[in-house]
Amino acid sequence: MELYTSGKQLRDLLKSLKKEGKSVGFVPTMGFLHEGHKSLMVRARRENDILVASVFVNPTQFGPGEDLDAYPRDLESDQKLMESVGVDYVFFPTTEEMYPTGHNTYVNVEGSLTKRMCGASREGHFQGVATIVSKLFNLCVPDRAYFGMKDAQQVAVIQRMVEDMNFDLEVVPCPIVREQDGLALSSRNTYLSTEERKDALKLSSSLARAREMIEEGIRDAHLIYDEMKAIIDSIPYARIDYIEILDARTLEPLNLVAGDVLIALAVWVGKPKLLDNIRLEVE
Ligand code: PAJ
Repeated sequence: MELYTSGKQLRDLLKSLKKEGKSVGFVPTMGFLHEGHKSLMVRARRENDILVASVFVNPTQFGPGEDLDAYPRDLESDQKLMESVGVDYVFFPTTEEMYPTGHNTYVNVEGSLTKRMCGASREGHFQGVATIVSKLFNLCVPDRAYFGMKDAQQVAVIQRMVEDMNFDLEVVPCPIVREQDGLALSSRNTYLSTEERKDALKLSSSLARAREMIEEGIRDAHLIYDEMKAIIDSIPYARIDYIEILDARTLEPLNLVAGDVLIALAVWVGKPKLLDNIRLEVE
């Protein structure tokens, strides 16, 4: 495994390998890697000749009130995990490398896709994501790029951008990896106290209840919403950012639960805001 801090050097190398007919799989991350990130790398390892992963805590996707400096970092343990999966090249740029003085171009996916859900409470967040992911695509020249469905809205935004900007690559969405008890893995789980960790389980259980109601034949999205909200409201200190029942492709809200459905939520459990969702095909 080799570490690159220069985007140009990495791109030159990858381009020459691609000329030999090798395919490149790419997993972008902000580090502090866990089994969720690992699952993307394992899949990318299987499906490509060359595996590139990036570790970069991207400042432009953090809002003014969000603590960029406090984002957890541990490059040594990240390197061990990537080595164990068989990552070939790690791109680990500095902020100056990605945003040198004078950098002034941003990629903006317009419309409700970025304005609602996480976009509503995190202004500019998806512009930061779309900008850095475009830059990483241009430097890591992937044939396939792997993203977790834990960030379902991020996947939808990247897919839109890839189509609209004619990026020559395939976006591969990958399933959410959970703890045994159901909690979706996240770097942010490290901020949870023991009590919060226990209460956070109500997020995945509210989604399990939603699934159950749909299996029982309930199709009224408001009924499902109310029941999910009641489960989460039983954590007295939790603050709901959103609970949404959506068309999984357009992310438009549904009144009637039918078709390809995404049920997504974002809830502050103490300090961290946790995300979770389920996707299901409903007749
Ligand atoms: P980060 O939060 O580090 O996540 C990197 C990738 O890992 C994302 O695609 C995310 O959805 C995926 N991931 C995180 N937890 C997961 C889980 N429990 N199961 C499956 N996949 C999981 O997302 C970002 O970084 C950034 O926005 C980035 C795309 C790197 C741009 O800066």
